[in-house]
Amino acid sequence: MSAVSYDSRALKLDGRRVLVLSGAIHYPRSTPDMWPSLMRASREAGLNAIETYVFWNLHERERKVYDFSHRLDLPRFLGLAAEHGLNVILRIGPYVCAETSYGGFPLWLRDIPGVEMRTYNRPFMEEVERWVGFLCGLLKPFFAPFGGPVILVQAENEYANVAAAYGEDGQRYLQWCGRMMQEATFGVPVIMCMGATQGTLETINGFYAHPKIEEYRRRHPDKPVLWTEFYSGWYDTWGYPHHIRGAEDMAYALARFVAAGGAGANYYMWHGGTNFGREGMYLQTASYDFDAPLDEYGKPTAKYYHLLKLHRILNESAHIFLNVDVPEIRQSDDEVVEFEWSHNSQSLVFICNDSAADEAVVRRGCSSLRLPPHSVVILRDGELLMNTAHLSAARRVSRAMRPLNRTLTGLGGWVEPMPDLWPPALRKPTIVTEPVEQLLLTRDMTDYAWYCADLHVESRRAGVGMLRFEAAADVLYVYIDGKLVGFTLPPLHENRKLDGSDRENENNAPDFHQEFNIKLAAGAHKLQILCASAGLIKGDWMLGGANMARERKGIWGRVFWRDIPLQGPWRLSVGLLGERLGIFGAAGELVQWRADLARRPSMPLRWWRIFFKKPYTCEPLALDMSTMGRGLLWLNGRLLCRYWLAQAIGKGGTAPGDPVVSQRSSEPTQRYYHLPAGWLEELNLLVVFEEFGGNPAGIRLCVWEETPR
Ligand code: GAL
Repeated sequence: MSAVSYDSRALKLDGRRVLVLSGAIHYPRSTPDMWPSLMRASREAGLNAIETYVFWNLHERERKVYDFSHRLDLPRFLGLAAEHGLNVILRIGPYVCAETSYGGFPLWLRDIPGVEMRTYNRPFMEEVERWVGFLCGLLKPFFAPFGGPVILVQAENEYANVAAAYGEDGQRYLQWCGRMMQEATFGVPVIMCMGATQGTLETINGFYAHPKIEEYRRRHPDKPVLWTEFYSGWYDTWGYPHHIRGAEDMAYALARFVAAGGAGANYYMWHGGTNFGREGMYLQTASYDFDAPLDEYGKPTAKYYHLLKLHRILNESAHIFLNVDVPEIRQSDDEVVEFEWSHNSQSLVFICNDSAADEAVVRRGCSSLRLPPHSVVILRDGELLMNTAHLSAARRVSRAMRPLNRTLTGLGGWVEPMPDLWPPALRKPTIVTEPVEQLLLTRDMTDYAWYCADLHVESRRAGVGMLRFEAAADVLYVYIDGKLVGFTLPPLHENRKLDGSDRENENNAPDFHQEFNIKLAAGAHKLQILCASAGLIKGDWMLGGANMARERKGIWGRVFWRDIPLQGPWRLSVGLLGERLGIFGAAGELVQWRADLARRPSMPLRWWRIFFKKPYTCEPLALDMSTMGRGLLWLNGRLLCRYWLAQAIGKGGTAPGDPVVSQRSSEPTQRYYHLPAGWLEELNLLVVFEEFGGNPAGIRLCVWEETPR
């Protein structure tokens, strides 16, 4: 590839108009050994591009220390795309949202004095410019003008969502960001979604894009209509149901968009994958399956095959509809519209039923066509090629988890001690008069921090009462004298406000307020609180519109026992002792794992170690964690992910009218956890840190395999 340009109809590669069919595959959400098969499957499905955000938060965890290893090997990912004949849409941002930790920003940005993200703020912009300059220098050979696969780059992401809060400064920043990206990316066209600046190409996001085409054309008569986020489902959060979107509805949405003149779409997500480590945003599950055409494990779904068929038809017919102007709509009734594209005596007809409720019957010559709600019929030269509502029976693949019995061995436990029992060399708490926000202590190097204080209860204040935290996040475990007496229960609210009360919160209590009804005897007690972060936010709206720089965890307000504030001092300790010692890896050999602990499994603060042999299968593996509570999982010394068996009792869904269904079930939001093949060895070591109780003997190794039809 060398030259990328566009006209009012389509993107042009080397002067030729192309229909862009693209799929989002975020490289850190799969392992490099999965990349070739993901790309092959993309190509085979008729895609000509893949799209990924760039994850600044993961590449530069420490300022100016860059990491492009393993899953972060973006040059390798881009090279593989090229090898598979796929173009790349590179969404650099660097703000990306994406349900990733801190929306793609490294946490250290927050520590720069006076910093404010995503507005005209010099300290912020200087860091952005430095990072983008470094990144583009590194990736230079991969940009189209140098023969590489990158045909479009994105600056910022959906700025329209926060624009109102930043007014003129916001617009100045956006202009700057667009220009800076243009200068850094060697002449590749710069796109911006939902809010764009001069010189960049605006793109559309949403479940359906056809309703937005007319307005887009009015505003950008000289630009092609590109759809950067075509949602294949939705993300899941702990404590809420799994989200799905029908294959038929997606095929309708794509066919309807192309019928009306759309020139390119990118599935968000095409392969969602897994949030490894602690990389997911606040409350985001470890699975980022997204109900995408390629499932979390990279396997094709029925949706994949249905869309493949549509892609084939669109690719084979693209010469007809890309080389002429958008035809007039023919309207047979309110909800049924028809587009007839003709070129060189060939014709392509899309008959679309836009009604979400009623079937339509359309007469064509002597036959009649039935169009179920939300469907498109495609005819080429009079021949019926596809009805988007009809799934082919031959393509109805389904998969299920099959447990492998007796595969986990050598179960041993280790008790995570309270911080005052840590070895003296590590027992060095920070002593403060008031609790200090957790990220200032941990720099997000761990999810955990301990807040300890002495609590003297006078006899008139003894008994059952409320221990109240004015401001605390996310999951708190309250211990009195080493005994767990209460903890935060899911479902938690995804969007919270730093001040005031929350729309979503039925009790109308301020969002970061937490309270626990406990019983205290008169006398001196030790109050020990373990705070666990459930991930960093992805955008301002998760803090009620406050700038992302104000993100916080742990305890930062007053703590009351029966309405009297605790006086402190507070002793704060970072992380878990097991983490400090690294017992999830080689150092685990140095501690004594006790088999007898497994006889009393449902205790809080337990580390568990288990071995398993690699099973003889080429199919993906996962762990059934249904007997566990909440915590972290390590595989062969690497942090695999957070887990949480929170029941899906919250109300799921997106905005009313969206085609996303919340799949109600009696199961937790996420029961199975992906064990990537690339991390497995012949004999494998699994280490689990369990926060509040759970039976590790119930953990099962499972195979994700096709079920016979
Ligand atoms: C969009 C955003 C994406 C992703 C998506 C939801 O608004 O641009 O990055 O967060 O929502 O999955």
